Amino acid sequence: MILYNGAYLPKEEVRISYQDRGYYFGDGVYEVFRIYDGEFYELDAHLHRLSLSAEGIRMDLPYTLDEISRMCHKLLEANRHVVNGTLYLQITRGIAPRSHVLPDHPTPTLLAYCQSVERPLRAMDQGVSAVTIADTRWLHCDLKTLNLLPNTLAKQHAVDQQADEAILHRDGMVTECSAANVMIVKNGQLYTHPANHLILHGITRAVILRLAHELGIPSHEQPFDLATLQTADEVFITGTTVELTPVVQIDHTAVSDGRPGPITRQLQQAFSGTIPKKQ
Ligand code: PDD
Repeated sequence: MILYNGAYLPKEEVRISYQDRGYYFGDGVYEVFRIYDGEFYELDAHLHRLSLSAEGIRMDLPYTLDEISRMCHKLLEANRHVVNGTLYLQITRGIAPRSHVLPDHPTPTLLAYCQSVERPLRAMDQGVSAVTIADTRWLHCDLKTLNLLPNTLAKQHAVDQQADEAILHRDGMVTECSAANVMIVKNGQLYTHPANHLILHGITRAVILRLAHELGIPSHEQPFDLATLQTADEVFITGTTVELTPVVQIDHTAVSDGRPGPITRQLQQAFSGTIPKKQ
């Protein structure tokens, strides 16, 4: 079942207007919620970020966060086959004749669906490869908007190079990845880009920083450059679907000895401990 403007419909019945501003302008915001064992993970944090993203593009959400939360639960209820998965939700500014000026009285379009997604256990165990590429996105990367063309082109660049992920940099300073945040370990300390307008304020990133604090691993939210990335002891990416995945190769060169490092392992274990499991 698909959630479409408050109704729960079979997917064949969902029709999107050609005049939807999401279609013309990518004028909308989205969230990817994680479902573990039939339960939402960090639901409130995602809802809070959704409201910040909407505010950032001057869009009034069509429902309160409580209402959206209730609708997400109802949608999951209607998709009981999804035990481990994601709920994708997007809200566009809705239908209006094409104009660069924002419509006076928009009626936003809300669409959401669930799908099964297993934990990426193999990638988390063995690690993935990455290539670096210039970050050509706009300067509001903290807003989770539908404008993902630079992200998809960066990801495709990685795939073209037989790599799994693209690590982005602005003038040599590492920001994040095409669809994940990135962290490094150097001399037992954790570094990641500060949560400002240049990166998405990842929910997983925040969980990992909290866990690092609890484990007594010193962490620094400060930018680092490509040379530091390339000589890091450990590198890993964080995100709703990748969880905490080690990066073992960057630009075709091994990170340290090419195997996931001890702090990565420690944090992975701690992260797994935060995932709710039904008795
Ligand atoms: N992407 N940075 C970017 C650019 C992202 O798109 C994402 C998530 C993250 C990680 O954020 P979080 O931990 O809150 O998932 C960082 C989602 C999964 C996506 O677009 O599919």
